[in-house]
Amino acid sequence: MKRFSISFVLLFLIPLLASCEKQVYIVYFGGHNVEKALHEIQDIHHSYLLSVKATEDEARASLLYSYKHSINGFAALLTPEEASKLSELEEVIAVSRSDPKKYSLHTTRSWEFIGLAEGEGDEKHLRRGGELWSKARYGKDVIVGLLDSGVWPESKSFSDEGMGPVPKSWKGICQTGVAFNSSHCNRKLIGARYYLKGYETNIGPLNATEDYQSARDKDGHGTHTASTVGGRWVPNTSAIGGFARGTASGGAPLVRLAIYKVCWAIPGQEKAGGNTCFEEDMLAAIDDAIADGVDVLSISIGTTKPYPFINDGIAIGALHASKKNIVVACSAGNSGPAPSTLSNLAPWMITVGASSLDREFVSPVVLGNHLKIEGQTVTEFKLENKLYPLAYAADVVNPGISNDVVGQCLPGSLSPAKVKGKIILCMRGNGTRVGKGLEVQRAGGAGFIIGNSQANGAELSVDPHLLPATAVSYNDAVRIMNYINSTENPTARIIPAKTVLHTKPAPFMAAFTSRGPNPIDPNILKPDITAPGLNILAAWSEGDPPTKLSLDHRIAKYNILSGTSMSCPHVAAAAALLKAIHPTWSSAAIRSALMTTAGLTNNMGLPLSDESGNLATPFAYGSGHFCPTKAADPGLVYDAAYTDYLLYFCSIGSINNVDPTFKCPAVPPPAINLNYPSLAVSKLNGTVTVKRTVTNVGHRKSVYFFTSRPPLGFSIKASPSILIFNHVGQKKSFTITVKARGDRTASKVADKDEYAFGWYSWTDGPHIVKSPMAVSLA
Ligand SMILES: *[C@@H]1O[C@H](CO)[C@@H](O)[C@H](O)[C@H]1NC(C)=O
Ligand SMILES: *[C@@H]1O[C@H](CO)[C@@H](O)[C@H](O)[C@H]1NC(C)=O
Ligand SMILES: *[C@@H]1O[C@H](CO)[C@@H](O)[C@H](O)[C@H]1NC(C)=O
Ligand SMILES: *[C@@H]1O[C@H](CO)[C@@H](O)[C@H](O)[C@H]1NC(C)=O
Ligand SMILES: *[C@@H]1O[C@H](CO)[C@@H](O)[C@H](O)[C@H]1NC(C)=O
Ligand SMILES: *[C@@H]1O[C@H](CO)[C@@H](O)[C@H](O)[C@H]1NC(C)=O
Repeated sequence: MKRFSISFVLLFLIPLLASCEKQVYIVYFGGHNVEKALHEIQDIHHSYLLSVKATEDEARASLLYSYKHSINGFAALLTPEEASKLSELEEVIAVSRSDPKKYSLHTTRSWEFIGLAEGEGDEKHLRRGGELWSKARYGKDVIVGLLDSGVWPESKSFSDEGMGPVPKSWKGICQTGVAFNSSHCNRKLIGARYYLKGYETNIGPLNATEDYQSARDKDGHGTHTASTVGGRWVPNTSAIGGFARGTASGGAPLVRLAIYKVCWAIPGQEKAGGNTCFEEDMLAAIDDAIADGVDVLSISIGTTKPYPFINDGIAIGALHASKKNIVVACSAGNSGPAPSTLSNLAPWMITVGASSLDREFVSPVVLGNHLKIEGQTVTEFKLENKLYPLAYAADVVNPGISNDVVGQCLPGSLSPAKVKGKIILCMRGNGTRVGKGLEVQRAGGAGFIIGNSQANGAELSVDPHLLPATAVSYNDAVRIMNYINSTENPTARIIPAKTVLHTKPAPFMAAFTSRGPNPIDPNILKPDITAPGLNILAAWSEGDPPTKLSLDHRIAKYNILSGTSMSCPHVAAAAALLKAIHPTWSSAAIRSALMTTAGLTNNMGLPLSDESGNLATPFAYGSGHFCPTKAADPGLVYDAAYTDYLLYFCSIGSINNVDPTFKCPAVPPPAINLNYPSLAVSKLNGTVTVKRTVTNVGHRKSVYFFTSRPPLGFSIKASPSILIFNHVGQKKSFTITVKARGDRTASKVADKDEYAFGWYSWTDGPHIVKSPMAVSLA
């Protein structure tokens, strides 16, 4: 009997173990197969699988995707042994395991999001954009693809009223799925597809109550980013609570949108807690987007830790997109303010950081001692105009709550007997912001004050809480605590919020925006640029409440979110407008135009700062705050082609993982010579000379002069320092020599990881072509 039961157990264990060991691998082949039809490529990929699988059926079942345009390769379910067998084949250049926890959408620290709607939209944008918009004809023949959580097609932001026929270059489809069919696409939303094979292979079948098995957005994020790029002009829209009433509009209101849904709900988890996007699904989406004919890709997705380019599906997909001159804009990440926290670092993408708008939702707290403290919120719920008893969450917890939960209003932590009828001060840290409100509500609190943690500093992210609330800075939270400690019966009042425009200073860098230096290649300065990403209003999914909490039953057509997810589509929209004005420009030229014309001052005429007023650096903002109007006429551009990126791979030593047929020169140009519109020099020992080439895209005849502000303790010299152009399209090369003036004391660079910053520019008078630089010492 005993023996029987053991073998019985084993019988079940073996197949289970075998299937556990199987993982999704992405198999890359060298060279390209563009001349072959998709079914021929599939046959080839199938034959490779057959060489490691037992049967024809097993080989067929294990294939998730055949890639044709992004890479030549496929994604398949393999055991480690099968993967290693494949990797030994000569034609196979790389086999990489897709890491299921690698990617997610870049809303502020996915567990810390926000929401609301507005009508004011980017009014400032609308006014400033005027001339540029008409020149670009609002982007009308440009196609922008988004990799995201799908779209809510009924939103007014996606109306195609008055739009002309779909551009002839478009080859994509409107894929039918749950609550989505061809009638949901129109002349604005020209394409929609979804990618689920990687998700279902790794996680299991999609739960139909948690997400739509189609391009329809159950999250809100994808609707938000798509409308930020290309939403129509929708007058008199407003948030829940009526905040920010006015006209909502995307950055390029007549651009065509193609939706590629690649991010999905995580089973059994509140949507507020995040979502997941699989590498093999994203690669399939980029593959289709290239074939469909998109001009610009907006990808607000990234990794939480850096991966080498060859192990990052977004980077590899974007590389092949750049070959087709598709501009790829990506979010920099929301892991700031710590250094070296960036994602999406490849030099063929535009890496976008996040900064504020000049708008606040002012809702002060008045304490019982008459002290008035600044706060912000977009909650629609209001307290009466009277003083309420006030308590710090840590003082009103249930017995036995462990230390790290104290003060943070985590689920189940508060004691209803001690909280009832009071305003509660809750600190940020763990848990979602809206979830803290829910906990105060559960315990019977009248309202709550959400205090920043020290890392959040003075940056206030607003939320459409389910109860009266306001958000305060870290210093103010400490002041409130001091008051609570100083008196027997602390009390407070929260004044209802109102929208205030033209606040100063603006923009400032968001605390959450990920910072440089570049953890993958310190020769490339990242991020590239910054754009609005704090408290941004855009369209929302009616399949998800504005707080993303399951207990919230409200429907919001517009919502406010924060994150580099929100800034990335602003830059994608600007790229689309440039593409409309300059259809022949390369993706590198468009990036260069955006970068070299970016602004370095705020609306007080002072240098860009962070949320607490400290001077910000290019490691937060790259070249500066984007300025699409100036970018349309940059004067000169730093151009680069696909071959330049291959030479770059020769230099960093991984060309064989990208294209083994490419013949690297015996001495490839150093990575630092990639023709980039910014300059990073890491561990300088003495002197370095860097080469750059500019192309004249301005006046036929022009003379440009070099000027610079070297980093403290360094000198920089250009040779030649005058560039004379006789025709448009003319290229001129120059070198820049950076020299350390002395030791660390001279540069005030204290140690190896510390950088000094400066800039250089070429100017002919009307144009200033500016590049930031960062230097560290050996
Ligand atoms: C698409 O779905 C809608 C319902 O959402 C339905 O009314 C319509 O008939 C469908 N159209 C097609 C072409 O299937
Ligand atoms: C699907 O999700 C719902 C809501 O989260 C949950 O109640 C249900 O149990 C899930 N179904 C399955 C099969 O997991
Ligand atoms: C805007 O909408 C609000 C509420 O829907 C309405 O009360 C108001 O009259 C509208 N304003 C304009 C100018 O149409
Ligand atoms: C969050 O929770 C983790 C695990 O309980 C703890 O280690 C960490 O210190 C907490 N962070 C904050 C900011 O409270
Ligand atoms: C308030 O008092 C408590 C002890 O009662 C102490 O732990 C806490 O640090 C004090 N907070 C401030 C800001 O002084
Ligand atoms: C800098 O270069 C000099 C001369 O080539 C060499 O002797 C020295 O060790 C280098 N210093 C560092 C810190 O690499």
